[in-house]
Amino acid sequence: MRRVKPRVPEADETQGAIIDEAQLDMEGYSRFCKRYLAGEYQKLVSFFVNDLGLNPQGRVLEIGPGPGWIGICLAKELPSVGVVGLELSPDMRRVAQRNIQQEGVASFEVVPGDASAMPFEDDSFDGVISNGSLHHWLAPVATFDEVARVLKPEGVFVISDGRRDLSLGAEVLYQLLSGFALLDWSVPGRQMRRGWRTSIEAGYTALELRALLDASRLSIAVVREQLFDVSAHSPLRS
Ligand SMILES: C[S@@+](CC[C@H](N)C(=O)[O-])C[C@H]1O[C@@H](n2cnc3c(N)ncnc32)[C@H](O)[C@@H]1O
Repeated sequence: MRRVKPRVPEADETQGAIIDEAQLDMEGYSRFCKRYLAGEYQKLVSFFVNDLGLNPQGRVLEIGPGPGWIGICLAKELPSVGVVGLELSPDMRRVAQRNIQQEGVASFEVVPGDASAMPFEDDSFDGVISNGSLHHWLAPVATFDEVARVLKPEGVFVISDGRRDLSLGAEVLYQLLSGFALLDWSVPGRQMRRGWRTSIEAGYTALELRALLDASRLSIAVVREQLFDVSAHSPLRS
């Protein structure tokens, strides 16, 4: 078994928001996500809708939508669902709002707020989805408690993020993929490569995620490991 290095939280944890906004080219980040991660976003949305059984007429919360591509994908797939993105970063909110408008999506809005103290009523969502945000949360247990509070009792959720304990094969693939991104001059490759690495180092392992969930009101969650990701989701409907 490979030894897992200790977790290194991301640099900008003082605010809870992620990304050092002064240093990151938000437009480049948005283009990078759209170009290279669209397939992953689509898979996550399909899992949320089909495997977890999201109410197709329901209301969905996305935590930390960033440039908004997941919410946009969901809103296009299920136009009858209303999607609310809760986003801490004002710059990210601006980029997301612009992307939502350009994609002609009417059922997705992004609002300001911190996921550890959400500005929503109890039992107000049929689904909660989040990707790539968990490793930025300063208070993950409080945030899981908030998910449990705002979700209806029959609601579904998936919270996915990069895992720190990459296998040797995943590490090799990561090096190849991030090297490839470096050759793409239309996105800020070096910045993305650095951001990807720091987010891996700040990621949780499945065991760490299980312990956080067990300390919260979201202990019914199932933990799933994939090549690059670890996620917590509501039990699959049989
Ligand atoms: C790496 S980005 C991921 C963006 C998007 N979900 C994706 O997968 O492409 C993480 C996002 O989470 C947001 N975020 C971090 N902590 C947050 C919090 N406590 N509440 C709300 N948003 C948060 C950040 O501002 C950032 O936009």
